[in-house]
Amino acid sequence: MDGCNLDRALADRLAANSDYSPQQRGALQDLSYGTIRYYARLEFMLGKLLDRPPRDKLVSHLLMVALYQLEYSKAGSHVIVDQAVRAAKKMKSPISGLVNAVLRNFLRQQESLRMAADAEKSSRFAYPDWWIKEIEQQYGESSPSILEAGNMHPPMTLRVNRCRTTTGDYLSLLESAGIAAQRVAPEALLLAQPMSVERLPKFDEGWVSVQDAGAQCAAPILDVADGMRVLDMCSAPGGKAMHMLEQADIELVALDKDERRLDRVRQNLKRGGQSAEVICGDASQPATWWDGKLFQRILADVPCSASGVVRRHPDIKWLRRSADIAEFSEQQSRILEAIWPLLASGGKLLYATCSIFKQENQDVVERFLAKHKDANQEALALPFANDPPGQLLPCTKHDGFFYALLRKID
Ligand SMILES: C[S@@+](CC[C@H](N)C(=O)[O-])C[C@H]1O[C@@H](n2cnc3c(N)ncnc32)[C@H](O)[C@@H]1O
Repeated sequence: MDGCNLDRALADRLAANSDYSPQQRGALQDLSYGTIRYYARLEFMLGKLLDRPPRDKLVSHLLMVALYQLEYSKAGSHVIVDQAVRAAKKMKSPISGLVNAVLRNFLRQQESLRMAADAEKSSRFAYPDWWIKEIEQQYGESSPSILEAGNMHPPMTLRVNRCRTTTGDYLSLLESAGIAAQRVAPEALLLAQPMSVERLPKFDEGWVSVQDAGAQCAAPILDVADGMRVLDMCSAPGGKAMHMLEQADIELVALDKDERRLDRVRQNLKRGGQSAEVICGDASQPATWWDGKLFQRILADVPCSASGVVRRHPDIKWLRRSADIAEFSEQQSRILEAIWPLLASGGKLLYATCSIFKQENQDVVERFLAKHKDANQEALALPFANDPPGQLLPCTKHDGFFYALLRKID
């Protein structure tokens, strides 16, 4: 699982009811993501407002959505309460009186409820306890800002396709279309406001792609050059694959074990007018798909907890269990071991995750280096602060990522 559960569940629900307008879809997405983002905080407050949890889960969920709106949206409180009561009237059990009473109580006790929620870490930050402990152990004083950054609305960033235009020229094109943006990395333009891609000039012609500025670090680090044979071994949906193809005229093999997600790779390559050999296969089993020809570059964007992109997939916080992190770490080591023999001597492999847990990052790399005398870790020149080296933490400009560059030596 790479953090797409809520996206999929919501997309499937919305697809099942095609009567929704784009505005209604946006509002539904905001309510779902927002409520899940602050789930532990809202659940805590609801617990203080009720003697015992309602038997019907739907009632708790309706109340939590209304609490989310009362706490975090700009809508008037009377409108929110009125709509929640109307929704309650449509439900099987007659609970509109309860919904009305709970929400009005909330409005009366809002300040004291906030203070009580702030007094406990899980409701203050809205994460599971084990996650908070993990971050605190690793990052100490910086933990509150890291946890809070994981609750921000994620930024929308574009990657300018250097084969089509320059970053400066595309920035001017955006300005003339009335779209405010700033350059945050060589090809990265951070939009002042997220928007649908249909509004972006020349999007269909592949002039730009949506890609976080942190994710845009991968291709330049890997330093691909014309004629190289390159493996992108966990490729879908293909953001980094496209970026590498924009950097140089390479022979790219785009591998992923999920056939459905590989369709996204094909669509993206088509939009960018690019080509690659797209293979469905398991990176940890090269014998089942590899043709025996070595690669000069390998991008190992391995499956991970996605803890660095939790603001884009807030359900991850509640779906992951503490034990998953050790399992990911073992899986990552297995994949790295299996793929290393495919790298040519002198070649480079970039190990990448969108995790901020060291068990999936530095620990995997250290274990690998201890076993492989033919691997050397190279220093990285990243356009963003990274501490420990290679670790980008989520902030206003980019998501959380980890990068380690390994060179094969004789
Ligand atoms: C973080 S996403 C990759 C994002 C992609 N590199 C990009 O930039 O667009 C992880 C991908 O790894 C794939 N994956 C997970 N385990 C795999 C395995 N053992 N072999 C190949 N692909 C795998 C998943 O299907 C998923 O598409």
